[in-house]
Amino acid sequence: MKKCLVSPSMLAADFANVQRDVEMLNASEADYIHIDIMDGVFVPNISFGFPVTNAIARHAKKPLDFHLMIQDADQYLQQCKDSGAAIVTVHYEACNHLHRTISAIKELGMKAGVALNPHTSVEVLSEIIGDIDLVLLMSVNPGFGGQQFIPHTFAKVEKLAELASEVNPNLLIEIDGGVTSENASELVQKGANMLVAGSFVFKSPNPAETISALKNV
Ligand code: DX5
Ligand code: ZN
Repeated sequence: MKKCLVSPSMLAADFANVQRDVEMLNASEADYIHIDIMDGVFVPNISFGFPVTNAIARHAKKPLDFHLMIQDADQYLQQCKDSGAAIVTVHYEACNHLHRTISAIKELGMKAGVALNPHTSVEVLSEIIGDIDLVLLMSVNPGFGGQQFIPHTFAKVEKLAELASEVNPNLLIEIDGGVTSENASELVQKGANMLVAGSFVFKSPNPAETISALKNV
């Protein structure tokens, strides 16, 4: 059995009980805490901003994995750092100067990731894959939790794992959207090594056990 990293998404947490939910994650086998930031421009929804991430960071004992679904990410990288981000992932589709953005994230001492929407081919990363720490494949259209997993993601993971094996064998391959125990093992088998799960964790009767189950798919 292959182990993978698990990054539960706070988007599915109970925002009236953020401290309680972060403490549950602290006590679980989660490797990271996934933080979804949406601006209502790049995606058709608004989630939360730095006042909330700062509150999460005050209680979190796991590293924070920021997923920026926003235009103009460059403007907010320092605030991500100040809010405790260990990883910052930006969208390929939202960055005009991706190499500059990636360099800025790394200069701030964080891991740099690039996210791809379901319609974006992994080949667009061929010239930058050696410079990044992580690729996040969206397995739903970004903007909302609780959506159905898009099965074509399996083929994309395989392609990405092949591309990475030549240039960047330590690449983190993170899958985000509709991840459950139904698709997790096939994702890991095809090359994913980091799974985001929002609804599947937080809507389950025992979130900590669900996290353990995902870690050991
Ligand atoms: C969606 C976000 C995801 C979301 C996943 O735009 O990027 O991280 O929280 O939620 P589930 O696991 O419920 O699909
Ligand atoms: Zn996300």
